[in-house]
Amino acid sequence: MHTDVVILAAGQGSRMKSALPKVMHPIAGKPMLQHVLDTAAQIPDSTRHVVIGHGADLVRSLLADQDVTISLQAEQLGTGHAVAQALPVCQDEGVVLILYGDVPLIQCSTLMSLLAQARQGHVALLTVLLADPTGYGRILRNSDNAVIAIVEHKDATDAQREIAEGNTGIMAVPTALLRQWLPQLSSENAQGEYYLTDIIAMAAQETIPIHAIMATSEQEVQGVNNRQQLAQLERCHQQQQANLLMASGVTLFDPTRFDLRGKLFTGQDIVIDINCVFEGDVTLADGVEIGPHCVIKNSTIGAGTRIEAHSILDGVVVGREAVIGPFARLRPGTELADQSKIGNFVETKKAIIGQGSKVNHLSYIGDTLIGEQANIGAGTITCNYDGVNKYTTQIGHGAFIGSNTALVAPVSIGENATVAAGSTITKDVPDAHLAVARGQQKLVSHWKRPSKRQS
Ligand code: UD1
Ligand code: MG
Repeated sequence: MHTDVVILAAGQGSRMKSALPKVMHPIAGKPMLQHVLDTAAQIPDSTRHVVIGHGADLVRSLLADQDVTISLQAEQLGTGHAVAQALPVCQDEGVVLILYGDVPLIQCSTLMSLLAQARQGHVALLTVLLADPTGYGRILRNSDNAVIAIVEHKDATDAQREIAEGNTGIMAVPTALLRQWLPQLSSENAQGEYYLTDIIAMAAQETIPIHAIMATSEQEVQGVNNRQQLAQLERCHQQQQANLLMASGVTLFDPTRFDLRGKLFTGQDIVIDINCVFEGDVTLADGVEIGPHCVIKNSTIGAGTRIEAHSILDGVVVGREAVIGPFARLRPGTELADQSKIGNFVETKKAIIGQGSKVNHLSYIGDTLIGEQANIGAGTITCNYDGVNKYTTQIGHGAFIGSNTALVAPVSIGENATVAAGSTITKDVPDAHLAVARGQQKLVSHWKRPSKRQS
C-alpha cells in the first residue's frame, strides 16, 4: 500500500536564535531535514512531501535536486493546517505518515510498525514516556486504557499534566480519514492553532481503532528546539555510529571522542585514536592506524598505512604501508604510492608521489609528479604559481633533492639526479646529474666584528 510521507518543516525555531532555518541545522554534518528525508526514503512504495514556511528559500535549495514535492505553508497556523497543505498532492488510496523535520533520529523500523497499523485502516500514534513531559501533548486514555484524545500542554488541566505519556507528533493515518477530519479542525484552543492532534478525538468518536506505539528511546523521538538539544542529539548519533563501527571490529580508543560526518568504510583491525573527525566518504583498509586529532575527508587509505597525530587529509588516495605525519596536510589530488612517507609540516596538493619516496620535513609539494624511491629534503618548495598560472614539477625515480631547495616550475629533475641543498632550480636537470644553483661561499680571513661606538 502506498505511503505519502509528509514532513513538517515550516516552523521558525526561534529558540535556535539563528539565521538558518531550524531544520537546516546539521547533525553529523547533514541537515536534520535530510536525515528525516533519508530515513523516509527507505520506506517501500512511498512518496515524500515537505511542508516549508520559515526560511523557505534556503530549505528549497536543499530540496532542489531531490525527489520530493514541496508545499508552502505561508502562515504557520498549526500542525493540522501544515498537514492540510500537503494533502492535495497525496494519493487517494493509502496512508499518510507524518514526520517532523526537527526530529532527526527517527528510525525506519519504528515507522514500519506504525505503517503496519495504519494500513489496516487504523490510526497509529508514536508516543513516549517522559520524565518531564512539560510542553508535550498528553495521551488521554479511557478506563479500558484505549486512547481517546490528545490534549496539548497549554490546554491541559493540572490532572492531565500529570500524565507522563507524551505525543511525539509522529503518526500514520489512512489518507481517506485524514481528508475527512482535517477540514473539521478548529482553532479554538489556547494557542489559536489548528492542532493535528485533535483528529485523535475524532477517530475515537468514530470508533476507529487507535494504536499507540511507544518509542523505545527518548532520543529517537527527541525534537530539536535549541542548540543544547542539537548538541545532545549530535552526541547521541555519534555514539550510535561509534557503536556500529566497534561492532564491526574497529578499535576506537574513546567512542565519546569520535566524529563521523559522512560514511566510513572499514576493513579489519583498524585503530583510531581520540578526537579524529571523518567527513564525506572515507575508506580505511585493513590494519590502518590513525593517531589522535586527525581530520580525514573524502579519502582512501591503503592497508597497513599509519597516519600520525594532527594530520589533515582531504581528497587523498594512499597506498599500502605508507606513513603520514605527524602534522601533515594533504590536499585534494594527492596520491601516495605504497611505502611512501610524508613527514611533519609537509603540505601537498595535486601531488603524485611514487612508491617508497619520502618527503619528510617542512615542504610544499604542489602540482608535482614524483617517481619511486626519491628523497625530497627538508624545506623543499615547488614554486608552482607565478601569481596567475600554475605549473608542474616532475621529479624522476631515485632523485635526491637537497634541503632548502626551490624548484621553480615548470621544471623537471631527471632520474637519479641530485640537487644540492639551497639551490633555486629554474632549468631542467638531466638524469644522473648534480645541479648546484646557489651563491658561492666566500671566506674572509681576519674578519673583525663590529664593536660598539664610544659616546
Ligand atoms: C507538537 C504536538 C504535541 C507534541 C509535540 C512534540 C500538535 C498540536 N502538538 O507540539 O502534541 O507533543 O509536537 O514535539 O501537533 N509546524 C509546521 N507548521 C505549523 C506548526 C508546526 O510546519 O504551522 C512544524 C514545526 O516546524 C515542527 C512541528 O511541526 O517541526 C511541530 O511543531 P511545534 O510548534 O514544535 O509543535 P508543538 O507545539 O511542540
Ligand atoms: Mg507549537
